[in-house]
Amino acid sequence: MPTLAGQVVIITGASSGIGEETARRLVRGGAKVVIFARRQDRLEALARELDPSGANVLAVAGDITRDADRRRLVDATLEKFGRIDGLVNNAGYGTRGPVELVPVDLIRQNFETTIFSLIALTQLVLPAMRERGSGCIVNIGSVAGRIARPLSSIYDSTKHALEAITDGLRGELKPFGVRVTLIRPGFILTEFVEAANTASTGVIDNAGPYAPYLGGFRVGYDRLRRVAGTPDDIARLVERALTSGNPAPRYAAPLHAKFFLFLKWLLPDRVLAFIVRLRK
Ligand SMILES: NC(=O)c1ccc[n+]([C@@H]2O[C@H](COP(=O)([O-])OP(=O)(O)OC[C@H]3O[C@@H](n4cnc5c(N)ncnc54)[C@H](OP(=O)(O)O)[C@@H]3O)[C@@H](O)[C@H]2O)c1
Repeated sequence: MPTLAGQVVIITGASSGIGEETARRLVRGGAKVVIFARRQDRLEALARELDPSGANVLAVAGDITRDADRRRLVDATLEKFGRIDGLVNNAGYGTRGPVELVPVDLIRQNFETTIFSLIALTQLVLPAMRERGSGCIVNIGSVAGRIARPLSSIYDSTKHALEAITDGLRGELKPFGVRVTLIRPGFILTEFVEAANTASTGVIDNAGPYAPYLGGFRVGYDRLRRVAGTPDDIARLVERALTSGNPAPRYAAPLHAKFFLFLKWLLPDRVLAFIVRLRK
């Protein structure tokens, strides 16, 4: 059973929310952590908080969609720590809006960040893990990777794609001793909703015939807030995956996430579609 102590783990999207809390938890457990995101000030503040000596935490600022930044992240990690034991693919955001109206460029951008760049970074860390015969890839998916919702299906489809990539990778890497798992958070209180609103402003402000339904979408989110989880609910699962010799293919948290996934398994599509339908 691998222990956390001494593991070198890259966490993308560590400047807020789930990634930030994951960094806290892993450092507490004795891991050496490399935190990556665009907001350098946030990363540096977190690095200072977690390890003022700078021995066990490295902050690398960059945009995951840029090839040069991904390579710099991997090179800096190897230069400082000499190896990579874990990669937590967490950076991501969601684009909102009706499929009819979201410009294809915005859709591409969401896929670029949340799926293509994740794959590209994984490709960079895999050769060394495969050659060493150990390592762990933890992909942060979503309940939305199983249940797509009206006005959210651009983001939801990136997480559906991640389900498939994770399953493929898991099978491909098993013979080489590299573990691959997926975590499906439900609604977690982070900056995610604000980031989604910012990314979708242009579409939401010009939603035309769909505009009356946006209110219903917001009400749905407000209701979910009452049962929302904390970033540490997910960080705990990341820790569990990294310290398991044979992690579960998938994890989910908090409780409402498991409940929705159970409904997806249980209910006919028409009934589920009624539950997640557009409402004014
Ligand atoms: N919160 C939820 O309810 C929820 C539910 C299911 C799944 N998830 C997933 O959980 C993951 C983390 O989200 P969160 O809830 O913690 O939201 P968050 O607080 O908004 O964090 C998102 C992180 O991703 C980083 N990021 C975004 N675009 C990036 C880019 N181009 N390059 C580098 N980093 C980038 C952000 O940092 P910078 O802006 O500084 O770059 C930030 O650190 C995401 O994959 C999300 O899809 C969240």
